Amino acid sequence: MEKENALQILSGGGKDLLLGQAMDLLDGVLDYKELMMGYACAIKEINTKFEVLDTEFEVRYKRNPISSIQTRLKSQTSILEKMARMGIPPTRENIEEHLNDIAGIRVICAYIDDIYLLADALTRQDDIKLIRRKDYISNPKPNGYRSLHLIISVPIFFAESVKEVKAEVQIRTIAMDFWASLEHQIKYKQNVEHAEKVIARLKECADEIAHVDETMQEIRMEMDNIKEDTTGPEAIYEKLKKIDISLM
Ligand code: GTP
Ligand code: MG
Repeated sequence: MEKENALQILSGGGKDLLLGQAMDLLDGVLDYKELMMGYACAIKEINTKFEVLDTEFEVRYKRNPISSIQTRLKSQTSILEKMARMGIPPTRENIEEHLNDIAGIRVICAYIDDIYLLADALTRQDDIKLIRRKDYISNPKPNGYRSLHLIISVPIFFAESVKEVKAEVQIRTIAMDFWASLEHQIKYKQNVEHAEKVIARLKECADEIAHVDETMQEIRMEMDNIKEDTTGPEAIYEKLKKIDISLM
């Protein structure tokens, strides 16, 4: 919208009441925007922490524990829906206190042990506070869902203030993510015929996938245990390959 047009509409043809209402409305919207900025910055901060861990691992061990990272900021609709479901008025204070998943970071790993390695490396950091940890890998949900969930808080340093911001981190393998993505799509189809059968088959798939994850983990560990020649030209070549790893 052109600035002139906007000013004319907002001034309500000189009606002070309308102007006052518009001011209040915009203050509310800007307050919300500022709230969301904190969560968006928390996502950037945590995303960087995972990228750092992945880079370190690549240089040290020539292997990337992280396959991909997905981030999302909860939509305004979802925030209002969830507050309504919880029966809590959606004020800024209530939203900050009661919602842990406005900032969401999903880390997709290669192997099961990478999940715990990354979770421990993150939560050991001095600035990270662990608020809650749910291990749906050692205790899968009855439907077969597996993932490690962390609710954490991280300080965000603004120009003139510091704010502790909460975020939900979900860490899972590629296989767990494959199952969860498809299950999520299927779940939202209404009026599924033979729903119980579908649930049972999805659970079967989840268990098969978990078995594959465990086998892949075993294979990698067996390969890791094969002692590499640390003296001959092969060893020199391996070191040269590490130096060649791109850092940016
Ligand atoms: P909300 O579901 O966000 O209200 O929180 P909660 O406190 O019950 O948390 P929980 O840790 O159980 O789940 C949070 C998130 O994990 C969900 O929003 C989904 O992204 C994911 N999740 C949990 N259970 C399932 C599941 O059965 N299937 C799939 N596909 N995703 C799940
Ligand atoms: Mg959620």
